[in-house]
Amino acid sequence: CGIVGYVGPRPSQDILIAGLARLEYRGYDSAGVAVIDGDGALGMRKKAGKLAVLRDSLAEAPLGDGSTGIGHTRWATHGGPTDVNAHPHLADDDKLAVIHNGIIENFSALRAELLADGVVFRSETDTEVAAALLGRAYADNGGDLQLAFRSIVNRLEGAFTLLAMHQDHPGLVVGARRNSPLVIGLGEGENFLGSDVAAFVEHTRKALAIGQDQIVSITPDAVAVTDFAGTPVEPEPFEVSWDAAAAEKGGWSSFMAKEVAEQPEAVANTIRGRIQDGQVVIPELEGLDELFIGINRVIITACGTASYAALVGKYAIEQWARVAVDVELAHEFRYRDPVIGADTLVVSISQSGETMDTLMAVKYARERGARTLSVCNTQGATIPRESDAVVYTHAGPEVAVASTKAFSAQITALLLLGLHMGRVRGAIEDASVDVAELGALPEKIAKVLESEQEHVTQLAGWMADTRSVLFLGRHVGYPIALEGALKLKEISYIHAEGFAAGELKHGPIALIEPGQPVFVLVPSPRHSALVHSKVVSNIQEIRARGARVIVIAEEGDAAVLPFADEVIHIPLAGAMFEPLLAVVPLQIFAMALATAKGLDVDQPRNLAKSVTVE
Ligand code: G6P
Repeated sequence: CGIVGYVGPRPSQDILIAGLARLEYRGYDSAGVAVIDGDGALGMRKKAGKLAVLRDSLAEAPLGDGSTGIGHTRWATHGGPTDVNAHPHLADDDKLAVIHNGIIENFSALRAELLADGVVFRSETDTEVAAALLGRAYADNGGDLQLAFRSIVNRLEGAFTLLAMHQDHPGLVVGARRNSPLVIGLGEGENFLGSDVAAFVEHTRKALAIGQDQIVSITPDAVAVTDFAGTPVEPEPFEVSWDAAAAEKGGWSSFMAKEVAEQPEAVANTIRGRIQDGQVVIPELEGLDELFIGINRVIITACGTASYAALVGKYAIEQWARVAVDVELAHEFRYRDPVIGADTLVVSISQSGETMDTLMAVKYARERGARTLSVCNTQGATIPRESDAVVYTHAGPEVAVASTKAFSAQITALLLLGLHMGRVRGAIEDASVDVAELGALPEKIAKVLESEQEHVTQLAGWMADTRSVLFLGRHVGYPIALEGALKLKEISYIHAEGFAAGELKHGPIALIEPGQPVFVLVPSPRHSALVHSKVVSNIQEIRARGARVIVIAEEGDAAVLPFADEVIHIPLAGAMFEPLLAVVPLQIFAMALATAKGLDVDQPRNLAKSVTVE
């Protein structure tokens, strides 16, 4: 869910709505705002549906010029996306408004306790339980909202960011966080709270990070942070490195289209400053050589698209740094008994840096004594703060739910990490060829965008009625096959599966029937004539069974031509670098197909970009 809070001299309603619009990627099944107006009366409006529904309602009947406000955009957990279940939730005779991100795991017990106390609930949400608890504590603590917060936070189990304001205290918003994100934006005579800096970057780039288990109060001129016991803490300041324009569509038909096109820049920015004298040297990792030398195992953990970047990373790190690498989905890693310890480096990958499954895996790894390194696209996010080291990707803000440029930047960061580790471990003698390959990537990606956009878009148009698409790849092409299938599922709702091409004959080939479209990622014969010939055999096998074969192959690969219905060309690149080129047509394909079906590519159904619940 997305959260925004404002205190200052300006009417807050429009500021909240603009903030929510930038946070809508965090969830968009319902939204709501509450403001306290000049007379100290609290107004609230909340609506199921995308933010536009709420915005229209407010345009018709504004809440007034109240300059203290909180806003929320929801991704439903407890209770379906209805008007009533939307946030804010009210308590204390509707004078207290509360919004929440996360899940309060012991809410049934708390609810039972409050029901016995005579509380009447309107919704099915865990949030309303927190609101009622806070309302009761507010009364018990003589109308002191900070004290009320302090008295309830330890009763809440699970993860939460809670924001509250009371109509008797205009000019004050109080928040608390445990395992869910919250940052402060510092303005002139006004202050903000947000799930991330996107909530307020339009107004200020000065921010403060709030730690775990802390309570924050903002007024127009002051910010105070304490731990859950009330001891003051000094929040960590940081500057947001991008401006509001970077998070705007700027003439593109969708954020996704813009972000796909931004990939050359995202990759170039991720490489920048990390190559010295023909070697990869990541400045953030200076002085941390022991992270890479004292280990005999790497586990990369992530979810969704980031986990496919992780798989590419596995191939690269093993090859260059000569250390065993496993990839584990974060939500599986934590709930078994993995063999990890001080000799293990756990690398987490997360665009948002807030994915709860990934965060929990990192914490778990740390508790087990492993070293932790995070690859992240969001400064000041929770996962990098919980890790021993961080390598930031510099893709800029990614707004579309389906990840594209962040994925490319993640792979780039892992390639850099592999080369950095290889150097530190003394496993690489000469990195000059690979470093040159890295440097050439942005231009090659731009070339794919330019040469294949029209062709692939046309192909997707022809295939708008397709019900199932398969993707095959080998080596680093395998994760790209998985990613191609995921993109299609996410935004076009078409059944899609990615397979390792070698696995085909062990099962999936049974799916092939006449007309079945199959994308095949063909690795360059220059890297391995053997692997190449195996993939060409796989193509023949499916072709013989009537598949419609769409091949992605390097320019000049004549061997595939006789067996392909369509050929998509990518420029020549080193083995580890091909994924960054091959994924681009697959992204364009998914986007064009979803568009042909008339779907919203930026906000696909049921998904949220940043899933901050487990
Ligand atoms: C969600 C999104 C995916 C994303 C995954 C990991 O499931 O819908 O697109 O790949 O989270 O996100 P992260 O921010 O951790 O990279």
